[in-house]
Amino acid sequence: VSDSIQSGVYFRSGESAPPAYRLLLLNVVAGATASSVEAAIASIWTMLHNLREGRAQDLSGQPEDRRQDTEGQFSDLGILIAYGRRLFDASAHDPPLTKLDRPTYLSYLDNQSAFPSLRWDARRIPGEADVALQFTAGSVAAVSCGAVEVWKTIQDQRLPLQPIVTLGGFARLDGRGCMDFHDGVSNMDSAVRAMAITAGVPVWMRGGTYMAFLRIRVDLESWRALGRNRQELAVGRDKLTGAAVQAVRETETGELVADPRSFDLDDPEAIAEWRDPPQHADRHLERAHIHRANQSRGSPDAPGSFRMFRQGYEFLDEIGNDGPRLGLHFVSFQRDLRVLQHVMNAPGWLGDSTFGGDAPEDLLSLETGGFYAVPPTGEAFPGQGLFRAS
Ligand code: HEM
Repeated sequence: VSDSIQSGVYFRSGESAPPAYRLLLLNVVAGATASSVEAAIASIWTMLHNLREGRAQDLSGQPEDRRQDTEGQFSDLGILIAYGRRLFDASAHDPPLTKLDRPTYLSYLDNQSAFPSLRWDARRIPGEADVALQFTAGSVAAVSCGAVEVWKTIQDQRLPLQPIVTLGGFARLDGRGCMDFHDGVSNMDSAVRAMAITAGVPVWMRGGTYMAFLRIRVDLESWRALGRNRQELAVGRDKLTGAAVQAVRETETGELVADPRSFDLDDPEAIAEWRDPPQHADRHLERAHIHRANQSRGSPDAPGSFRMFRQGYEFLDEIGNDGPRLGLHFVSFQRDLRVLQHVMNAPGWLGDSTFGGDAPEDLLSLETGGFYAVPPTGEAFPGQGLFRAS
């Protein structure tokens, strides 16, 4: 099947996202013209693709065997380019950078209290930019050096772009996150993912997708203090197997406990239900994260289904007196940003709970985030047409 989604979205059958992640946000410098920005991004795009072939800008003339080493280091580098609300902001750009339509739901995250129940962390990091480059690879070296090579190109060629921030993350090979639960269990069959993520509007975005990234800090001490049982009710899954909790029962002491049904792992239907459980009438289960995040449990192509493809990466900044500063770069791709905005704002969804169950509301806080348009492939670089329309 051919599609025009950029290669940094690992949604296709047989693909899985590699474990290293780095996001680099860039702004266009004041006064730059659309055509100079087009040329600048084209330069960076070409440089990065040369790097993947082992041709690094500061290593020209490298002997062939050394070039092969460099190629081995960078050949799996996933490069994705996306554009933020700021690129369309006439008050930030004189002359304007594009005349194409701004996607309706491509909004700033910055100018309000983010979301009703997910509050800003005391430490705010910038997250809005004109351009976002997402690097993914098997090694931290590839994604980190990829970002540094972009900086070199900007310096050497005096490109009209300014790095704003870079954020790095990692994924575990056992599919779990910093809260120890499996993440990405119910990420849809690959066959239906394309429907959930492929954009239709505006015209220049047809066949592309939209990215949301939220850098969410997790208070690990408060999470661990909940204990396994309340954690399972908060997530809605068994901690050890990832199976969806099917029932909640009350113990003699009045405590609620998750009652995971035992599944026959040879029965495909049981496994499907284990991954993607049906809608629940149980009021305790309904409050769990997996149900809040997907209340309708509709098929991904149904208009009201609000499904997204999640490709998150953990982060760890430091371990100090207050414990570890860590969390999740929640990264999702969806056919429209309205999906994410609905999930984060609607009551019963994540609009009235930071996470789910009776997890404390200050368990999570938002350090930064942003919404980005990820145009389809097919031009010299994705989004080239933005700078060309006259
Ligand atoms: C630090 C923050 C977060 C953590 C640690 C976290 C963790 C998890 C875990 C452990 C699961 C269950 C495994 C799975 O079904 O894949 C899950 C599912 C899910 N999460 Fe989160 N999550 C976080 C934030 C968010 C946010 C902000 C959103 C929405 C914008 C979200 C949307 C979802 C969705 C859609 C599912 C799948 C639900 C389903 O269809 O069954 N999560 N998350």
